[in-house]
Amino acid sequence: MIRTVTTTPYGDQKPGTSGLRKKVPVFQQKNYAENFIQSIFDSLEGFKGETLVIGGDGRYYNREVIQIAIKMAAANGFGRVLVGRGGILSTPAASNVIRKYKAFGGIVLSASHNPGGPTEDFGIKYNIGNGGPAPEKVTDAIYARSQVIDSYKTSDVADINLDAEGTQELDGMTVTVIDPVADYAELMENLFDFAAIRKLISGGFRVVFDAMSAVTGPYAKEIIEKRLGAPKGSVMNFIPLPDFGGHHPDPNLVHARALYETMMGPDAPDFGAASDGDGDRNLVIGRGIFITPSDSLAMLAANAHLAPGYAKGIAGIARSMPTSGAADRVAEKLGIGIYETPTGWKFFGNLLDEGMATICGEESAGTGSNHVREKDGLWAVLLWLNILAVRKESALDIVQKHWATYGRNYYSRHDYEEVDSDAANGLMANLRDQLASLPGKSFGALKVATSDDFAYNDPVDHSVSKNQGVRILFEGGSRVVFRLSGTGTSGATLRVYIERFEPDAARHGIETQEALADLIAVADEIAGIKARTGRTEPSVIT
Ligand code: G1P
Ligand code: ZN
Repeated sequence: MIRTVTTTPYGDQKPGTSGLRKKVPVFQQKNYAENFIQSIFDSLEGFKGETLVIGGDGRYYNREVIQIAIKMAAANGFGRVLVGRGGILSTPAASNVIRKYKAFGGIVLSASHNPGGPTEDFGIKYNIGNGGPAPEKVTDAIYARSQVIDSYKTSDVADINLDAEGTQELDGMTVTVIDPVADYAELMENLFDFAAIRKLISGGFRVVFDAMSAVTGPYAKEIIEKRLGAPKGSVMNFIPLPDFGGHHPDPNLVHARALYETMMGPDAPDFGAASDGDGDRNLVIGRGIFITPSDSLAMLAANAHLAPGYAKGIAGIARSMPTSGAADRVAEKLGIGIYETPTGWKFFGNLLDEGMATICGEESAGTGSNHVREKDGLWAVLLWLNILAVRKESALDIVQKHWATYGRNYYSRHDYEEVDSDAANGLMANLRDQLASLPGKSFGALKVATSDDFAYNDPVDHSVSKNQGVRILFEGGSRVVFRLSGTGTSGATLRVYIERFEPDAARHGIETQEALADLIAVADEIAGIKARTGRTEPSVIT
């Protein structure tokens, strides 16, 4: 039976870079999830009788919100819900299911790489029919609605059995529980040369994949061990846990330290990789070489034609503004378009839909292509394996040859987490005040060429996104970029992105922080990070 429930707005349901992220106890407040889900439905038009995809990364509170969302979808008039078995769908797999089954959209429950558990993070994101995150005009409408919402609709029925595949009826709507892995594995098999990768692996090439006790475990088990024949045990931490085993499911050099140590050690496998909580990020490490996400984007784009899915070449590359310029040099050489967008995958959607870009990436360990409308961790790993299988060279050789051809973009991101919000906002305001006076100023050997607050004019829908990060470009191509995170759940996170282009191959072997030391010092001098935040060093360096 359909029921309308009276509610009052919370006022704090503003979607950030990737949906609404809050601590679990916030989501557990009365009607909190219901308010946000109803605000999503109230911001959409024309979904009566249509299909909605629902799934999440399996973190704490996933199942509860899935039940809420299914019942509300029925009460609001959707015709069908497709939900992953156990409530599981990785973010790229959800994107694929939306596209493949021509769904109206999808609700993806995840807080990505943030920790999970009763006092940790949870999130709700809405994806549109192209499979990608809702654009700003939709998220703005959702937020506006959430501030005035006075009722929501739900269905008074028992919980759906999420653990048995098959179709059930619910207040005039059908709910089909689907295998979360099958459609995705089939897509990967269509894009990549599985036979070549199988041959590489059966020839003794060793690959390890750390699923970080998060959603990619079942996907990686099926693809890497079962279909590609890697020995049992190649996929580590493959059981998704509601609290990710108490770890941050964030595939970076801090939280995937053990994998990094293994890959740098004497008995290192040939290739190591990891993915995050919801499966859209990737970490790739060759034996003896960590490949930065910005470099990985450039190298994948340069070699994509070696995989069957991209054999005809790529149309263009898109990268977020803070991502290094390494991909720009590849685009230039290939004679294809390069697009610089604000941070967040949603900005790639139009470029992919229009066929302007084929491969996209962000410095934050996100890479993907037009096969779905989300970044895709396993996709990046499989494309690397495909390239390694065809080139028959080590990852280290491929990286060094790439730098020799295109030059090396030394790159690092310094994060200052849980900074006082006023201090962080003051720091950004002060930087914005300096924009006009910086060009022409010298800091030691570094001379500022230009500085601005990045604004993006979408070439497809002509929407304008302002205040996307302060960038200071120096003569010679070095730069520092400052922005505040849009995904944090407590205080503010200041991100400082530092980059230096080095064309000289004789200078490609310098330790990264050392190669960037003068820029790091100048970033502090201009922004007053230490003085304003009271922090003497970043919380995380990647
Ligand atoms: C971070 C990353 C960004 C990514 C987003 C979602 O956002 O920097 O590249 O798209 O997570 O995974 P931020 O916290 O910087 O707003
Ligand atoms: Zn993620």
